[in-house]
Amino acid sequence: MRIPIVAGNWKMNKTIAEARELVSAMKNDLAQLAATGKVTVVLCPPFTAIEQVAGLVHDTPIKVGAQNLFWEPKGAFTGEIASAMIGELGEYVIIGHSERRQYFGETDESVNKKIKAALAQRLQPIVCVGENLAQNEAGQTQTVVSGQMRGAFKDIARDDARGIVVAYEPVWAIGTGKAASGPGANVVIASAIRGTLAELYDDATAQTVRVQYGGSVSPKNVAEFFAQPDIDGALVGGASLVAGDFVAICRAAVK
Ligand code: PGA
Repeated sequence: MRIPIVAGNWKMNKTIAEARELVSAMKNDLAQLAATGKVTVVLCPPFTAIEQVAGLVHDTPIKVGAQNLFWEPKGAFTGEIASAMIGELGEYVIIGHSERRQYFGETDESVNKKIKAALAQRLQPIVCVGENLAQNEAGQTQTVVSGQMRGAFKDIARDDARGIVVAYEPVWAIGTGKAASGPGANVVIASAIRGTLAELYDDATAQTVRVQYGGSVSPKNVAEFFAQPDIDGALVGGASLVAGDFVAICRAAVK
């Protein structure tokens, strides 16, 4: 049985003071939901607010993560954050989000290096894959997503692979209010994500890895995603900044 995982990707939002306010508004509800053991709840604030958020939830089962890391362990890399620095504060790290691929030049190769750096630090990666609109319209979804999966998991051992969370986020659905359909996302996850894991490793691994859907997830549409057999939770952007919405999405995962 895969336990669903709902992660809030705050992106570049919330000062420390704002983060404190948001967490205070949802902490009790999220803690209760996480305590059922039926959902893993993860908050991924910007780097500057992680310590504050981690402090606020340290007495709860709510988990904390970062939105990025750099693969080198330390050194002259101005502006970058190493896995050991994240490891002091949280257990998860989002890797290869489409906004990082699009605006910051991340490639399948850099994603792979970052996953390895996270695993070496025992951080749990949430690895994002997904096709853009042009690729979707050209019927390339399967090829693009399976290619991203192969790139991300290159030379990752099976036991490590089983602990990685994959987020299927069609780029055209992110922040647009136009979510994929539940069945449509399920097809891509079953074939391009679990299918590729089965090819790279084996069926047991393909069935062990937790796969989230992401892209305009809201309390209104979330039930459709969580009803799908291959979808194990959600990576939530905009709705994770609204306490009531994020709690409602986490509650839907418990049902
Ligand atoms: P969204 O973002 O929920 O605002 O569409 C999701 C994401 O980018 O992870």
